[in-house]
Amino acid sequence: MSDRLFIFDTTLRDGEQVPGCQLNTVEKIQVAKQLEALGVDVIEAGFPISSPGDFNSVIEISKAVTWPTICALTRAVQKDIDVAADALKFAKHKRIHTGIGTSDSHIKYKFNSTREEIIERAVAAVKYAKRYVEDVEFYAEDAGRTENEYLARVVEAVIKAGATVVNIPDTTGYCLPEEYGAKIRYLMEHVDGIDKAILSTHCHNDLGMATANTISGVLNGARQVEVTMNGIGERAGNTSLEEVAMILRCHKDIDIDTNINTQKIYSTSRMVSSLMNMPVQPNKAIVGRNAFAHSSGIHQDGVLKNVQTYEIIDPKDVGIDDNAIVLTARSGRAALKHRLHVLGLEMTQEKLDKVYEDFLKLADKKKDITDDDIMVLAGADRNVNHH
Ligand code: KIV
Ligand code: ZN
Repeated sequence: MSDRLFIFDTTLRDGEQVPGCQLNTVEKIQVAKQLEALGVDVIEAGFPISSPGDFNSVIEISKAVTWPTICALTRAVQKDIDVAADALKFAKHKRIHTGIGTSDSHIKYKFNSTREEIIERAVAAVKYAKRYVEDVEFYAEDAGRTENEYLARVVEAVIKAGATVVNIPDTTGYCLPEEYGAKIRYLMEHVDGIDKAILSTHCHNDLGMATANTISGVLNGARQVEVTMNGIGERAGNTSLEEVAMILRCHKDIDIDTNINTQKIYSTSRMVSSLMNMPVQPNKAIVGRNAFAHSSGIHQDGVLKNVQTYEIIDPKDVGIDDNAIVLTARSGRAALKHRLHVLGLEMTQEKLDKVYEDFLKLADKKKDITDDDIMVLAGADRNVNHH
């Protein structure tokens, strides 16, 4: 049987921290319900101590959502944990996500503390959160730049204190995929009691490696991934949910399943983009406008003969109706013939050659060739049924 990977969505917490992406409570509930329909396992709904708005959103999302676990973020501070537990009171399944920085620079400059004291504070926070909930996740902030031997001691101590999930964030997006994978492997092999908890990835995209690092973490034993829709998040963003879900779907050889209903990916992406006022770059993998658009003549010809020549994903699998054959000056006769056929226009080779010649002249002047342009070039009347 394949292994199960838990999808922890932090669109409403790490994603929502982006300036300009703030949502009101009603909008957050809309996104949370869509994430539930998409099949995520955990929704990180907010950081309740940070503002009354965040506190209230965690309460309302907890009431609105049934199946996924609702998670609230805290620092390793008792007051934060008290407020998070209060905000989670209506959740059917609840988790407190507490943690502290573990890299030497965090310990020295942020906390003016020592490695030993940080372990004590981490353990105390987990034990305190356990008074309220069974499911406690611990994050070792800046784990990406934390020395592995010390990180293993932190992870072992928090698991002993009752952590059910331990998050290994590459907070600054610094790690290389091999390095991040080796870190997860090191923890899997050196932490006593690792079988009592799940290791989680949480990768940022500062160097464009968030998805690669996440997959490397999974290949080395992590069984939860922290992701956002469209990869939104602090600075260059977080690992994008749609990329991880489709990588695992395409690479059956990895033999790890998620609960994601991939056909809801595109609608979720559109909803998050429009509510958060955050456009998706056109060439974004999986959900970008051009992700399934073929524009070069050679590619269009190949796709029309057999779609698998240039497509590894069926657009329908992510909820997009069809691949788009975009007509441009680089399109060949095959693409034009296909479009004419879709419009109900069949013609002789001689006529097609003539229309193609006119089409190229027009395409050199005009960026987008519409169906109306094609009809005019073919000398057809738009209102007549040509079948
Ligand atoms: O990037 C990070 O380290 C975080 C933690 C708060 C989990 O977002
Ligand atoms: Zn983060």
